Formats: sequence, C-alpha cells, structure tokens
Amino acid sequence: MALKFALASASVLLTGAHAMTVEDMLAAPRRSAAIVNPTGEWAAFSSSTYNWTTHKASTTWQLLNVASGNVTEAPFDSEVSEFVWIGPTDTSILYINGTNDNIPGGVTLYTADVADKEFSPTLVGSLNAPFTGLKAAKTESGDINFVVNTLAWWNGSAYNEETATKARSSGQVFDSNWIRHWNVYMTEQRYAVFGGVLSGSNGSLSLQGEPKNLLHGIKDYLTRPETPIVPGGDPGDYEISPDGKKVAFLTKAPELPKANYTAGYIYVVPHDASSAPVAINGPGSSRPEAAKGASISPRWSPDSTKVAYAQQDGISYESDRYKLYVASVDGNSSKITPIAENWDSSPSTILWISNGTDLWVISELHAAQRLWVVPANAEADFKPKNITGPQTSVADFALLPSGQALVSASSSWTSRIFYTVSAATTADTKVLLSAHTVDPELASLGPERTSNFWLPNEDGNLIQTFVYYPPNFTEEKQWPAILIPHGGPQVAMGDVWSTRWNLQLWAEQGFVVFVPQFTGTPSYSQNFTDAITNNWGGTPYRDLAMVWDHVEKNISYVDNERAACAGASFGGFMTNFIQGHDLGRKFKALVTHDGKTTQEGSYATEELYFIQHDQNGTIWDDYENYQTWNPVRDAKNWATPHFIIHNDLDYRVVFAEGMSAFNILQSLGVPSRFLHFPDEGHHVLNRENSKVWHDHIFNWMRYWVGLDEELISEGVIHQ
Ligand SMILES: *[C@@H]1O[C@H](CO)[C@@H](O)[C@H](O)[C@H]1NC(C)=O
Ligand SMILES: *[C@@H]1O[C@H](CO)[C@@H](O)[C@H](O)[C@H]1NC(C)=O
Ligand SMILES: *[C@@H]1O[C@H](CO)[C@@H](O)[C@H](O)[C@H]1NC(C)=O
Ligand SMILES: *[C@@H]1O[C@H](CO)[C@@H](O)[C@H](O)[C@H]1NC(C)=O
Ligand SMILES: *[C@@H]1O[C@H](CO)[C@@H](O)[C@H](O)[C@H]1NC(C)=O
Ligand SMILES: *[C@@H]1O[C@H](CO)[C@@H](O)[C@H](O)[C@H]1NC(C)=O
Ligand SMILES: *[C@@H]1O[C@H](CO)[C@@H](O)[C@H](O)[C@H]1NC(C)=O
Ligand SMILES: *[C@@H]1O[C@H](CO)[C@@H](O)[C@H](O)[C@H]1NC(C)=O
Ligand SMILES: *[C@@H]1O[C@H](CO)[C@@H](O)[C@H](O)[C@H]1NC(C)=O
Ligand SMILES: *[C@@H]1O[C@H](CO)[C@@H](O)[C@H](O)[C@H]1NC(C)=O
Ligand SMILES: *[C@@H]1O[C@H](CO)[C@@H](O)[C@H](O)[C@H]1NC(C)=O
Ligand SMILES: *[C@@H]1O[C@H](CO)[C@@H](O)[C@H](O)[C@H]1NC(C)=O
Repeated sequence: MALKFALASASVLLTGAHAMTVEDMLAAPRRSAAIVNPTGEWAAFSSSTYNWTTHKASTTWQLLNVASGNVTEAPFDSEVSEFVWIGPTDTSILYINGTNDNIPGGVTLYTADVADKEFSPTLVGSLNAPFTGLKAAKTESGDINFVVNTLAWWNGSAYNEETATKARSSGQVFDSNWIRHWNVYMTEQRYAVFGGVLSGSNGSLSLQGEPKNLLHGIKDYLTRPETPIVPGGDPGDYEISPDGKKVAFLTKAPELPKANYTAGYIYVVPHDASSAPVAINGPGSSRPEAAKGASISPRWSPDSTKVAYAQQDGISYESDRYKLYVASVDGNSSKITPIAENWDSSPSTILWISNGTDLWVISELHAAQRLWVVPANAEADFKPKNITGPQTSVADFALLPSGQALVSASSSWTSRIFYTVSAATTADTKVLLSAHTVDPELASLGPERTSNFWLPNEDGNLIQTFVYYPPNFTEEKQWPAILIPHGGPQVAMGDVWSTRWNLQLWAEQGFVVFVPQFTGTPSYSQNFTDAITNNWGGTPYRDLAMVWDHVEKNISYVDNERAACAGASFGGFMTNFIQGHDLGRKFKALVTHDGKTTQEGSYATEELYFIQHDQNGTIWDDYENYQTWNPVRDAKNWATPHFIIHNDLDYRVVFAEGMSAFNILQSLGVPSRFLHFPDEGHHVLNRENSKVWHDHIFNWMRYWVGLDEELISEGVIHQ
C-alpha cells in the first residue's frame, strides 16, 4: 500500500490555489528534521521563513505532538540555536544559546524543561568559541558528557575569530595542494570535536573546566585531521557513546594527500581525551582487505560496545558504493564485520534499534532516499527491503520507543513531510504534517503534479525520467518544455524538494520539465554509476538525446518548437557540451549554471580525485583523453541563445569556466547574457540573490520560447 498523502483538508486548500511564485518558494517555511524526545511523545523542529517586505528571515521552534500531529510553538525562540533532549525529565533539554555576554564570539549552554509553564532556563556553562553540533549522554554518575565542534588552532585550542589577533597582511602561502575547498580557503585553523562535562548533584549542573580537543591526540599525519569535514560536514561525522565514555568521529586519512585521495577513517577516543584517538578501520586495523575508502556515519550501539559505519572500497573514487560494517570496540583493538556486503545499494545515515539487533539505514533507490532495516549480523547475501517508497525522499529519521520511525522527508510537492512508519507493515503509516497542506505558498502543489517514465538506452539499461507539469496542465494543449541534465554526474535528481533547483517551481513557469537519470546516476546500481568513467559526453549525452527524441516523437502535449535546456555543475558542463552538438539545435534557449567549459579547468579546482577517476587518469598521462568530451572543442558550433551564470566564490568549478563560455558566445554573436554573484559559491543560497537568479533564468527561457515579450532590462549593466 502506498502512503496516503491526501489529508482531508487538502482538497479544500487546493481549489483556486494560485501557482507557486519564486517569492513563495523562497519565503515558505523551511523546516528542519524532527528531533524526538526519549519517550517519543514530542518532536521539535525549527522553521525559517522570509519576509519580502522587511527583507528579513526569522526562525522559530515548533513542537510536534507525535500521537496527534498537533503542532504548537515551542516555549523558546531562535536564541536557542540547537538543543538535545537530556536531563532529569523526559522533556528536559540542554541547549546552545548563540550568544555569550562575557566572551564576544562565544556561546553559552543552558538547561530547561520544555513542559514548564513558564520556561525558566538555567545557565550551566560559558564556551569561549562559537561551538555548534551539540550531542550529549548521561553518565552513570549523573553527569552530562557532551561533544561540540568548532575551528581549532594548530595547538588544539578552540579558535574564536572575534577575540583572535588579526594578521596585518591577508597573504596566504601554501606548500601543498587542497588550498581551498568549495567556497573557503584553508587557513591555519581546522574543525575539531571537543568533549566537555557538566556535573553537579541536585539538578544544578555546571561546566567542569574547558572542553578538550579530541582530535589533538592524532600525531604523525601528513595532512591535518579535521572533523566535521567542511563544508557539508555535519555533526553526523561524530557521535558520543550512550554511556558517555567514548567518542567516535571520522576524518580524512591523515597519511594521504587530500587532493587525490578520498579515504577516511573512523576514530574512537575516550571522552576525557585520556588516550589518543585510534583509527578502528585505518591501516593496520582488522578491516577487510578491500575496505580502504571514505568512511561515514559512525553510530554507537545502545550498549556502547560497537560502532556501525559505512565505508567505500576505493581510495580515490568519491562515488564508490558505501558498504555497512560493525566494529566491536574493545580498548584499542576492534573486530570488524561486514553487513549485507553484496547489497547493491549505498547506505548513508545509520541508527541502531534499542535492543541492538537491527540497523535502520537511509539508502537511495531510484532517486529517492528510502528507509531500510538491516540486521546487525546480516549475511553477505542478505537483501534488505525498503520500508518507504518512491513518493517521498527521506532526509532524516528517529526511532521511537514504539519500534516505529518518525521520518522527516520531502518531495517535489512538499518541502517537509513528517510521518511514522513501521518495518513490518505499511498499514499503520501515518502522516503527521505535510507542508503542502499547511503552507499557503505550496497550496497549488500535490503528488499529481509529477510522474516518471522509463526507457531502455543503448546498453539495455532503463533510464528513468521525472516529469513535472505546469499549473492547469492538460494533455489537450501543447506546452513549452525544458530538459534538465542533472549535476554530479554521480548525483540523482528525483522527486525531492529543493530551494535551489525546485523543479516544480520551474514547471510553474508554464513548462513541462523533463529530468532524465542518465548513465552515471547513482541509485540504479553501482555498475550503472561506474559507467560514467571515460564517458562524460558519451552515453549520458546519448541517453539525453534518446529521451528528447522520445519526447519529440511520442509526447503530443510538448511543443517541440518551444523547448529549452538548463543545467548546473555537471549539468552545466553537459549543457555546454550539448551547445556544440546536434541536440543543441533542438532548443530555443540554454542555461548553464557553474558549468565547465574546458576539461583543463578541472585542474584549477581542489578535488583532483574526481576528474582523475572520471577520466581514468591524469591530464599529463592522457591529454587526448581529456579532449574527447571537452565542450570548448566544439565552440565553432555554438549557436543557441545561452545564459551563463557563474559565481565568484565557486572554487568547485572555477569562475573562469563561465567567463570563457560567455566571452566565446559574445564573440560568435550568439545571443547571451551573464550573471554572477560576488558573494556566492557553487550554490546560490542568499534568498535575495536566489530571487534574482530565478527571475533572470525563467525570463530567459520564457522569452526565447515566446512566453515573455521582453528580456528583463532593469539592472542590466551597459558598456
Ligand atoms: C488555472 O485555471 C484557473 C481557472 O481557469 C485560473 O483561474 C488560474 O489562473 C489558472 N492558473 C494558472 C497558473 O494559470
Ligand atoms: C512581513 O512584514 C510586514 C512588515 O512588518 C508585516 O506587515 C507582514 O505581515 C509580514 N508578512 C508576513 C507573511 O509575516
Ligand atoms: C490538538 O489541538 C487541538 C486544537 O488546538 C485541540 O483541540 C486538541 O485537543 C489537540 N489534540 C491533542 C491530542 O492534543
Ligand atoms: C541567551 O543569552 C542571552 C545572554 O547572552 C540572554 O539574554 C538570553 O535570555 C538567552 N536566551 C535564552 C533563550 O537562553
Ligand atoms: C594556541 O595558539 C593560539 C594562537 O597562537 C593561542 O592564542 C593559544 O593561547 C594557544 N593555546 C595554548 C594552549 O597554548
Ligand atoms: C544542592 O542545592 C542546594 C540548594 O539549591 C545548594 O545549597 C547545595 O549547595 C547544592 N549541593 C550541591 C552539592 O551542589
Ligand atoms: C597524489 O598527490 C601527491 C601530492 O601532490 C603526489 O605526490 C602523488 O604522486 C599523487 N598520487 C597520485 C596517485 O596521483
Ligand atoms: C590505546 O593506545 C594508546 C596509545 O595510542 C594508549 O595510550 C592507551 O593506553 C591504549 N588503550 C588501551 C585500552 O589499550
Ligand atoms: C529486538 O527488537 C526487534 C524489533 O522490535 C525484535 O524483532 C527482536 O526480536 C528483538 N530481539 C531481541 C533479541 O530482543
Ligand atoms: C519499495 O520500493 C518499491 C519500488 O520503488 C515500491 O514500489 C514499494 O512500494 C516500496 N515499499 C514500501 C514499503 O514503500
Ligand atoms: C557489475 O559489472 C561487473 C563487471 O562487468 C560484473 O562482474 C558484475 O556482475 C556486475 N554487477 C551487477 C550487480 O550486475
Ligand atoms: C582505466 O585505466 C586502467 C589502467 O590504465 C585500465 O585497465 C582500465 O580499463 C581503465 N578503465 C576504464 C573504465 O577506462
């Protein structure tokens, strides 16, 4: 049985709903995942909205009653930057207050009880740096042992930008590569996990000394350890054991250069830092021979004796399959057991059930993150069953004492949906809240606005294409259409909410949107993902052309004369590649966001392992191989009106790539426009910037397919 999403009120709201606008999508509540209390009765989540009159964002905390689905305002505001449920009662919390009256740039720790009629927090600790990522466990003695992270100096001390002495020069000198990553330059400081203790009897806790840097004990490294791994690293990169005595964290392999290796290990360290961290799956450990790659999601068993985690085999392939392992942690030795190792799936988030027999994991299937149950001692050939379906993509989940999971998910038609689900049956699946039924901005959305189809490609693989329909869609009319080659290439782009590439929002502009999961896309089998090697403009391009050919010949509601193509990152590379090939002539307009124009440009970014894997070698070993799929090689064919966006802080695909594409287009006399944000990286995150980004892209496509009469002229800089 599929999830039943249509809540009683939905049909009422949907009638007469106006299409979702760019402002709507950007302003609508952005809800965090639900954080569940120990009894499973309450879940808290934060919600951030934007006001286009005041141009300000605001964040509130809400409490979800898990039994009834009732949502109420939490008794605390956004001064609480994050919290954990811990303390004397089931509604006690420990939280980080993002300010500190005594130490500029520091934060404070408070305890409180959410059930108290008048919320009366107690200050229990002052921290001297902007610590985040709080996790905590109650110890036998009644203390609360906690972990947090922040940037640290070389000598291990926490770094506080506001109190540190500023250097007089901004120059930075490097002797080895990986000098910047995504949108930040490496500095002297690196992220580290710190362990602290709150102790005290009769309910009055207080911080015992300064939190200790738990990574500082790692010696003899070539490249410095760092947890969480930034950017994108999160508190999921470390965990405190339920007994509070130990901490597990991951860091990249310290004996390898970071630019050409992806390997990383799980370390275990006593919470009091009384001995050095030990890499339980590092070189010299009892790890299986093949398991040498990146490690993720260390999670303690309920009895604090084992750590479950996932690890890749390949040491320089970031899209290799993650396999599950359980390590028995006993002093400095560990015994490592692979779990369901032949399961052709790549799990990420892991949780143990309370009696320690099973792991619940998130792993993606057909472009939707699903929940699966895997016994902690599963045989190699064990094939887990998905307990959530393709209708939602799971972002996070918590396990309830009832044995159910509370899932925080999304889809193209709901920015957040909370539901409970059981492993054994879908009969008791219950939706607690879905944004599209409560947020007026999303009222026009619904599951009926999307579908998908599968077509066999030249290798006999089935290519799945997601389709998003415009408002008031009917097959009787002919609609303009957009082809979207996704990024990655090893990233799926399915039926999921995004505030960056919100495919339903693209459809709201009056287009039918097609998003093929071409060769190289994960979640369709590792072999299908791996087939991207030496193939960037090969099978993936032909898959896109095959899907478009099908759309032209067989989908009568698409107006073939009014089509556009748009992509970001690898999708931008692909759009630039398409511009130089036959498929490019089928579109009236193209859009490239942060895409590569040259293959040489890969060496102006830090993740050399990426291109060296995908091109199966270095540029000096086989330069000709790099030229095979080089978009700029076919620049003489560029002819379709093309909008280029490239941001200055994009160190992933460097700015020069977008700049060259625009300069070539202008020199060739191809209608083209250029947009950049000096304060954005690979992703446009600021809502004001995002509005401009959307307005210009949508206008560009609508103009060239005849939906808008003019291009936006306001604010365009003339020479
Ligand atoms: C959809 O159709 C209704 C009824 O004809 C109309 O009022 C509404 O404006 C249309 N919505 C859009 C986005 O075109
Ligand atoms: C945005 O702010 C204005 C001015 O303070 C206020 O009148 C309006 O109600 C706010 N809008 C929303 C949706 O909260
Ligand atoms: C849910 O909220 C409604 C209205 O606020 C209230 O009448 C009802 O009793 C609540 N239900 C539960 C189970 O708390
Ligand atoms: C946060 O800390 C400030 C002082 O730094 C204090 O004034 C405020 O009341 C605190 N808020 C909460 C919710 O703890
Ligand atoms: C570590 O280095 C920083 C910056 O030089 C300094 O402020 C701090 O006092 C040092 N910590 C220790 C424990 O020496
Ligand atoms: C326990 O609380 C009382 C009253 O609040 C206080 O006087 C006493 O010092 C506390 N004892 C300890 C060990 O903290
Ligand atoms: C990885 O990078 C290091 C440092 O730049 C270099 O010495 C080494 O040869 C590289 N290894 C491979 C396999 O590319
Ligand atoms: C683990 O190894 C560290 C040194 O790496 C040592 O200090 C510590 O005593 C060892 N712990 C145990 C339980 O063997
Ligand atoms: C552990 O819990 C699971 C789920 O409730 C149950 O199926 C299993 O029988 C339990 N195992 C033990 C050993 O208690
Ligand atoms: C598991 O996935 C399949 C394929 O997407 C789907 O048909 C099925 O409904 C899912 N099972 C559950 C329990 O959701
Ligand atoms: C993946 O490809 C390899 C090599 O061609 C083959 O041996 C293996 O059986 C394939 N795996 C699956 C799951 O199809
Ligand atoms: C990659 O290169 C290796 C060694 O040069 C070769 O054996 C292998 O077949 C290549 N793989 C692909 C997919 O091109």
